[in-house]
Amino acid sequence: MICGGKMDKKILVAYATKHGATFEIAERIGKKLEENNLKVEILPAKQVKDLTGYAAVIIGSGVYIGQWIKDAGKFLHANETVLKTLPVWIFSSGPTGEGDASELVKGWKLPRGVQESVDVILPKGVVVFHGALDEKKLSRLERWMIGKVGAALGDFRDWEKIDQWANEIGTQLKE
Ligand SMILES: Cc1cc2nc3c(=O)[nH]c(=O)nc-3n(C[C@H](O)[C@H](O)[C@H](O)COP(=O)(O)O)c2cc1C
Repeated sequence: MICGGKMDKKILVAYATKHGATFEIAERIGKKLEENNLKVEILPAKQVKDLTGYAAVIIGSGVYIGQWIKDAGKFLHANETVLKTLPVWIFSSGPTGEGDASELVKGWKLPRGVQESVDVILPKGVVVFHGALDEKKLSRLERWMIGKVGAALGDFRDWEKIDQWANEIGTQLKE
């Protein structure tokens, strides 16, 4: 594209991560969008001060005891007014173990705490992806909690699903 237009604007991929799994998903989504000839910026949700200049926003968080990492919820809340004017996609990185991600979380889609913002923003997509649990990265308390709920250790991220979701976004943004 030679002349200006929405393709020249950047897509923001913001994320909140504790142990890195969600960051890597954000990176992967960003890479796919770039392959779709879109300009991308990948930033921790906490670092985003201003949404000026972004044509679309993707925001993701790891899930801890049914909640998002605080920075992700704060990001949505603080930017509601702008986000409701932009195409927005939301993902969570949560369940570990074999099987369908939304079945593993029993239909859980979003933490209750962010639902109010989401009702204002009306995102184009909300998805739950499998996550990753690396025993070496967990604190003793976290290991104990994981043991309690019997969550599987290991990397269950479904890169094909993630790529597919990102490509769908890319397609929509190019329309
Ligand atoms: C203490 C603890 C609690 C967790 N609670 C949940 C949960 O309630 N639901 C869920 O789907 N995943 C849960 N997980 C799994 C994480 O969401 C998953 O490992 C995610 O990919 C971590 O992302 P991050 O590495 O970006 O922080 C939990 C993990 C830990 C360590």
